[in-house]
Amino acid sequence: MNKFFILFFLINLWILTREDAEVSCQFGQTCVLNCSFMTGRDPVIHWSQETPRRKEVHSYYENQDHLENQDQSFKGRTSLFRDQISRGNASLQLNGVMVQDEGSYGCYTSSYNEIAAGETFINMTVYAPVQKINMRQTENLIICSSDGIYPEPHLSWSTSPPSSRTFQNQTTVQKTEELLYHINSSLTLSDREDELEYICTISTPSDQRRASWRRRYDSHVIAWIVIPLVVIAAVIGLVVILVVSLVVWRRRRAWRGQKPSHTKPDLNRNSEETSSGENSETSTITIYGAIWNHVDHEEQQAVTTL
Ligand SMILES: *[C@@H]1O[C@H](CO)[C@@H](O)[C@H](O)[C@H]1NC(C)=O
Ligand SMILES: *[C@@H]1O[C@H](CO)[C@@H](O)[C@H](O)[C@H]1NC(C)=O
Ligand SMILES: *[C@@H]1O[C@H](CO)[C@@H](O)[C@H](O)[C@H]1NC(C)=O
Ligand SMILES: *[C@@H]1O[C@H](CO)[C@@H](O)[C@H](O)[C@H]1NC(C)=O
Ligand SMILES: *[C@@H]1O[C@H](CO)[C@@H](O)[C@H](O)[C@H]1NC(C)=O
Repeated sequence: MNKFFILFFLINLWILTREDAEVSCQFGQTCVLNCSFMTGRDPVIHWSQETPRRKEVHSYYENQDHLENQDQSFKGRTSLFRDQISRGNASLQLNGVMVQDEGSYGCYTSSYNEIAAGETFINMTVYAPVQKINMRQTENLIICSSDGIYPEPHLSWSTSPPSSRTFQNQTTVQKTEELLYHINSSLTLSDREDELEYICTISTPSDQRRASWRRRYDSHVIAWIVIPLVVIAAVIGLVVILVVSLVVWRRRRAWRGQKPSHTKPDLNRNSEETSSGENSETSTITIYGAIWNHVDHEEQQAVTTL
């Protein structure tokens, strides 16, 4: 009984005090979980994930991989360095690292002629650095956002040059299906004009990134500049059109005065009065007259054939 308790105590002491190796893997990348052993004949290697839930990861014995009991979540993503096993390298290569892969991994190794079978543990953590920060402004809000981050990021606002004022700001953090974080924050600008640069800093324990924004004045400020410009442009345009029309009208008048009449006598019954009236619409009226005469003529023909 006492022996059992001592053993139990020692095992617990070993679990509590053991220094697990640590490895940090980048999300989506390939990662190597190191494991070395004293190799011998017929090596056996069992990789398992111990926490948060026990899962079979990769097994090797009788000189080949045995993936019959491999957990579905690791399917097609694991491999050993086959040519290195004989040198005592039982390291596991894991492709397409996911947040769910985080946890403590056990590497059990033994050999036929080795008395010391053993298990070592490696604690694996995942990180996804802040890649890109988006900033935009809608009216009096500056919005800063970024996504695909792990672990949970922290966001803070500052100004350049530093300002003693505090700005109302609100941050929301959301988790995506891949367990990555999306963060966005809005900062409310004061009505006062300023020349400050607004800086948004997003950080995780392993990295930090910042982006800055200079205030753009919102629509009512822009309106004060744009509306008068549009009015001035419109007035100039109107004046130009009037001048051009006047010039064209004068030229046509001069041209009509010189030119002898070319219209056929039978077509200009309607146009006769106007052609002498110096009107720029004369030609149009003449054409209409011709069409109408033509129609009349056909109708008359139709009537006569009837
Ligand atoms: C894995 O082991 C090799 C050789 O001992 C070492 O160079 C490398 O830094 C180790 N990798 C990690 C992530 O600990
Ligand atoms: C095992 O071999 C792989 C591939 O050469 C290497 O990346 C890794 O660091 C090695 N691990 C150890 C513990 O030697
Ligand atoms: C693994 O590392 C994480 C983060 O450093 C730590 O919180 C956790 O307790 C470690 N787990 C083990 C089993 O060492
Ligand atoms: C953002 O809001 C917090 C309180 O919610 C405040 O302590 C902080 O100073 C604000 N940031 C800025 C740049 O004003
Ligand atoms: C932040 O994200 C949430 C969820 O996507 C959205 O509802 C909210 O409008 C966003 N806030 C800003 C300031 O864009």
